[in-house]
Amino acid sequence: MESNPLAARFTLSNGVGIPCLGFGTFNMGDGAAVAAAVKAALDAGYRHIDAAARYGNEADVGRGILESGVPREDIFVTSKLINDMHGYENTHAAFKKTLADLGLSYLDLYLIHWPKPFKFRNDWAKANAESWKAFEELYADGKIRAIGVSNFRAHHLDALAETAKVVPLVNQIRLCPGEYRQEIIEENKSRGLLVEAYSPLARGATFAKDALKKAAAAHGKTPAQICIRWCLQHGCVPLPKSSSAERIKENADVFDFELSAGEMAAIDAIEDRENWSKDPDTIDF
Ligand SMILES: NC(=O)c1ccc[n+]([C@@H]2O[C@H](COP(=O)([O-])OP(=O)(O)OC[C@H]3O[C@@H](n4cnc5c(N)ncnc54)[C@H](OP(=O)(O)O)[C@@H]3O)[C@@H](O)[C@H]2O)c1
Repeated sequence: MESNPLAARFTLSNGVGIPCLGFGTFNMGDGAAVAAAVKAALDAGYRHIDAAARYGNEADVGRGILESGVPREDIFVTSKLINDMHGYENTHAAFKKTLADLGLSYLDLYLIHWPKPFKFRNDWAKANAESWKAFEELYADGKIRAIGVSNFRAHHLDALAETAKVVPLVNQIRLCPGEYRQEIIEENKSRGLLVEAYSPLARGATFAKDALKKAAAAHGKTPAQICIRWCLQHGCVPLPKSSSAERIKENADVFDFELSAGEMAAIDAIEDRENWSKDPDTIDF
């Protein structure tokens, strides 16, 4: 029986367990601060780190992992294929660099970060198919325990399915109070994909909304904790980021209460359209 609630797992459709709450590493400032935040998260019990080549800090993330002293096999580490390296050869090279930067010998999860990067706007489906072939090889070789995507909508998943031999296991999308798009969540679940929630705190944009304030007061929690709990109760993996040791702990203290159906529905209905995620078909990076 696992005593650390942060290590409790969802199970991916290939049987691999994924700790239910991850730690985000985007926008963290300079090197030492990144390593310190990752170490603080692991010290606080997080066992799932969400990294990406695009964040430019994988060496610092790796240092934080090493300095924590937590055994590698106890940590679930994700990274993502950077946008300008789609294609077969590129993907192998990008993966090699990510592993070297993180100082690891394998990844738990590797994602295509965006389906239609600016550089591959005109041949995105072919570029994804080639990247996916490399993902499948790395998966078969045991270099990656699970493979998936991020920011993919149904048409991107359909295009990938035309050539994929292994189906994606995860889709990491923006999901937070203010951007609850039920049809997208259901679409992903119906395809057997586990949804990971990026920006689960909406970077604070909705903390002052009534539904969050009321639930926070009712449970003696903060709006941030309510956001994280709400993601978990939707069966999704929240990936909150914080650079503060205090808030890192706060964001993990979400396992001693439950939101009611009424509270969940009120939070689902929060509107914050101006901060919705970028359209993955028109990103300029
Ligand atoms: N796949 C993708 O395309 C994609 C895109 C965006 C993000 N992500 C992933 O998702 C992770 C999280 O998303 P995010 O960084 O965009 O946003 P977020 O986790 O929703 O919000 C982070 C912001 O909230 C603040 N914060 C954290 N805990 C708080 C608390 N308890 N009370 C008040 N404020 C708090 C942080 O400030 P402090 O640091 O000062 O605490 C930071 O400014 C990223 O780090 C990354 O790993 C993925």
